Amino acid sequence: MGKGLDPEFLSQLKSKNDLVEVVNAYVPLERKGGNWWGRCPFHHEKTASFSVNADGQFYHCFGCGVSGDVITFIREIESVDFMDAVKILAERAKMPLPEMNFDTEKAAELKKKRDNLLNILRDTAHFYLDNLNSGKADAHIQYILDRKISAPVVRKFGLGASLDFQSLPQFLLSRGYSKQDILDSGAVMESEKNKRLVDAQAGRLIFPVINAFGDVVAFGGRVLEKTDFAKYKNTRETMVFEKSKNLYNINQIKKQKKAGTLKDIIVVEGYMDTISLFQAGFENVVASMGTALTKDQARLAKRYAENVYISYDGDFAGQKGAIRGLEILRDEGINVRVVPLPEGLDPDDVIKRRGQEGYRACLDAAMPLIDFKMEVQRRSFDLSKTEERRAYIAAALKVIAEAESESVKEDLLKRLRDETGVTYESLRRDLDNAPVKPRETEIAEPVLREEGTDGKLKACRFILASVLFGAKYAKNFDLSSVNFDNPVHNTIAEYVKARQKRGEPLRASAIFDIVDEHEPELSQILDLSIGESLLGTGAEKYFHDCVQALARAKIDAELERLSRLCDAESDLSKKREITREILRLTIERKNF
Ligand code: UTP
Ligand code: MN
Repeated sequence: MGKGLDPEFLSQLKSKNDLVEVVNAYVPLERKGGNWWGRCPFHHEKTASFSVNADGQFYHCFGCGVSGDVITFIREIESVDFMDAVKILAERAKMPLPEMNFDTEKAAELKKKRDNLLNILRDTAHFYLDNLNSGKADAHIQYILDRKISAPVVRKFGLGASLDFQSLPQFLLSRGYSKQDILDSGAVMESEKNKRLVDAQAGRLIFPVINAFGDVVAFGGRVLEKTDFAKYKNTRETMVFEKSKNLYNINQIKKQKKAGTLKDIIVVEGYMDTISLFQAGFENVVASMGTALTKDQARLAKRYAENVYISYDGDFAGQKGAIRGLEILRDEGINVRVVPLPEGLDPDDVIKRRGQEGYRACLDAAMPLIDFKMEVQRRSFDLSKTEERRAYIAAALKVIAEAESESVKEDLLKRLRDETGVTYESLRRDLDNAPVKPRETEIAEPVLREEGTDGKLKACRFILASVLFGAKYAKNFDLSSVNFDNPVHNTIAEYVKARQKRGEPLRASAIFDIVDEHEPELSQILDLSIGESLLGTGAEKYFHDCVQALARAKIDAELERLSRLCDAESDLSKKREITREILRLTIERKNF
């Protein structure tokens, strides 16, 4: 799975990006025993079950089973593809990227296609920008003035103007782009009537969407006047744009992060909210572009900040729908706060009406997710009616049960007491008597001694793990003496044997180059690298037991084959020969 890159480069890239350091930048790690431990960044948890093995340069989570090397880690945590992960790590290690040497023509073609589309989109953005300054965009400029966007901010966001249907396709064709590429970029489409190429954003005010690498990947376009058309139109999904994976303005967030000026991120719904807040001095703002926040967007945000303010439009019913998005953020390990806005206003409206101070006050009133959920419940019931008040108590207790700490529970219970007039003690008892949620998975020590059908599989895992992770007692152990039937075991064994034959050191993280990191069997082997399993007092004895058990199993299989052969054999002398062999093996087996 070298993906076309020089293996030597990849190996250097991995050695210059120490996994412990890389992970530590996202999740604080603590050293315990031979491993580093932290809370898993890929699932929500309170206990640390995410472990990083410094010698092997791989990570593994007991809670959710994820595992991988430094490249996999960056791919997962940054939601980027392999090449982008390599770019990030190369930048981090200040290594120049080598000339791409693609395995297949297909990969090279894809890369070329992507580059073409990005070039088209960049040229299109410049085209729109030039339109705005051409003296022909009076309506667009008037709109910008009406919405009080300042000239520097217009420039900063690269706002532009589409003037008509025809001139963009003409411009792009004149630049030498193919019709197919122009269509595939999403900037241009075919008209339904006569199949002519037309600007997908015809007549609109243009908001370029730029990704974290500074590439223009799409456009948002707003109609200037009320019409029957959708108020905003986004470039359709293309090879370079998936709306659910992008955040508007993430490019500037990245710059702030680099400059060290970023503390937290404000997530809003719309393009105009972003621009308004930015102009008012809240530069740390991104927009989810109308969608409910997705997991990918949450991860993207988390790459830059731990604390996220959700600042969606101020109608509580609407915000209720956003709770799912908030839980997604929380589950990604992000500290979420909800910014309550006055009913019916969006962030842009708040800035317009109450200025920077007004929005600052809203930010200051931001509440943790759990308080927000309580608030949503409270607003859904009429507390003056007995029945509704009881329903509210039940709903609120469910929310309180999710609280991470006793002090938060106590705090919320007191609030509930004040709102409903029910005593603290009764509320507390109801809370404590409610059915408890299943506990989170805890670190399980692998069972060392086990008989039964799984025995062989377990023994194979243990042997592979002890060789791969360099346990002393397994040094120089010859894996050819074991029959591995599991394909993953076989792949790993072949890798180890090849390295040993060439006298090369074993690199545990190399298994992620040859086995898919989602492979459950890989996870089973990695489990053993943690804790006492391989290093504990019983480990060496267990290793030899495994070797013996497998040797016994190998003989058993052979004995069975021979006795079947013997039964089927009619030639007496051959039968005798087989019987002798059976006898020999039976004696050998007794030695174990
Ligand atoms: P809103 O409808 O809240 O618009 O949509 P807004 O941001 O307040 O816009 P203005 O102030 O009227 O100009 C929020 C976001 O949802 C997406 C856009 O990203 C928009 O910024 N959206 C909205 C669409 O994609 N299409 C639409 O038709 C409407
Ligand atoms: Mn608005």
